[in-house]
Amino acid sequence: MAFFGSTGSGESLFKNPMGLDYDYQPKLVKYREVEMRQVAAAMRPLFQKRSGRNVFVFGPSGVGKTAAVRNLLLELEQETDEIMPFYINCWKNDTTFKMLLEMCSVINYKFTQNKRGDELFEIVKKDINKKAAVFVFDEVDKIDDVDFLYNVVEEVFNKSIILITNHKDWIADLDTRIKSRLTAEVLEFKPYNLTETRGVLQQRMEFVFAPGVWEPDAFEAVVQKAFSMQDIRSGLYLMKEAANTAEERNSRKVTAADVAAAIKKLEEFSIKKTEELEDETRFILNIVKKNSGRKIGEIYEAYKEAGGSMVYKTFQRRIAKLEEDRFISAERVVGGSEGSTTILKFGQEKKLTEF
Ligand SMILES: Nc1ncnc2c1ncn2[C@@H]1O[C@H](COP(=O)(O)OP(=O)(O)OP(=O)(O)O)[C@@H](O)[C@H]1O
Ligand SMILES: [Mg+2]
Repeated sequence: MAFFGSTGSGESLFKNPMGLDYDYQPKLVKYREVEMRQVAAAMRPLFQKRSGRNVFVFGPSGVGKTAAVRNLLLELEQETDEIMPFYINCWKNDTTFKMLLEMCSVINYKFTQNKRGDELFEIVKKDINKKAAVFVFDEVDKIDDVDFLYNVVEEVFNKSIILITNHKDWIADLDTRIKSRLTAEVLEFKPYNLTETRGVLQQRMEFVFAPGVWEPDAFEAVVQKAFSMQDIRSGLYLMKEAANTAEERNSRKVTAADVAAAIKKLEEFSIKKTEELEDETRFILNIVKKNSGRKIGEIYEAYKEAGGSMVYKTFQRRIAKLEEDRFISAERVVGGSEGSTTILKFGQEKKLTEF
């Protein structure tokens, strides 16, 4: 049988497949010069052994926030040994302890076993305070306990702290004790326009694929879809999927039909995910869908009326998980006649980190 016969002989359409890995860091982050210059300026005092400024970066998903800031950290690393770069993804490291372990690995400290968080912080702090440091806390809204920020602000001398999130209101909600000490500049990343979307995707296409692999209308279909979703990540996902489909049928070209199939898969992605939720969570998601845009307390009432039996705390935790998985979005509203509350919205914005 020749099940593998045709795959071995043909050349791959992919010249540099790793360029579509989700954690691939592009060498050049186009169209973000202004934003990168502002962040770099905030770090610049560190070169003169003074404390830097802090920046709060926000913007929707897939607009280059992580790519731009990580690029700056790489440049910083090449430029000097005197400023230590800490990049921490708070989604993956969602407790202070995990963050500290991550920091220990950056400073190459290995004797972390049986040590408490405060002991680890002392070790990291001592090391950093000999020099200077940049801390990037990406997806910072994903952690519950922000006390570590207080420690970093207070006890590390020469530093810049860069906080990245999708939620503009996260900083408004921050404990005033921390906020007043942080005094961060605010920097918004807006979605790319059509030309920019095309430019970013074209740059990646040329890196990943051999010339002539993409039919022009196929590539344009990817650009249009990514632009309509305002998310470069979905464009990269489509490129990968469409090219895989083309390769499977032993084509030397990626066509518009391959892209159409990939778009269909992209749209099914969120639906499939919903099916994977356990019953009670799906039940809650449906209630949010029916009551999208209302306050969390009202949605909890609706949930109980519909026969739900969880206590509020448990309900809240499920809501947080649904938000984390991006089935819903939660917007914190501060103040108002009834004090602070959270508005829940149904939405299928999700990260395509699985491609
Ligand atoms: N200007 C750019 N040049 C090259 N690649 C880019 C650019 N902007 C975004 N990308 C790529 O698009 C993908 C999404 O970008 P990135 O991860 O930086 O988004 P983000 O704004 O951090 O989104 P999220 O809020 O979901 O974390 C990445 O693979 C990144 O490399
Ligand atoms: Mg990011």
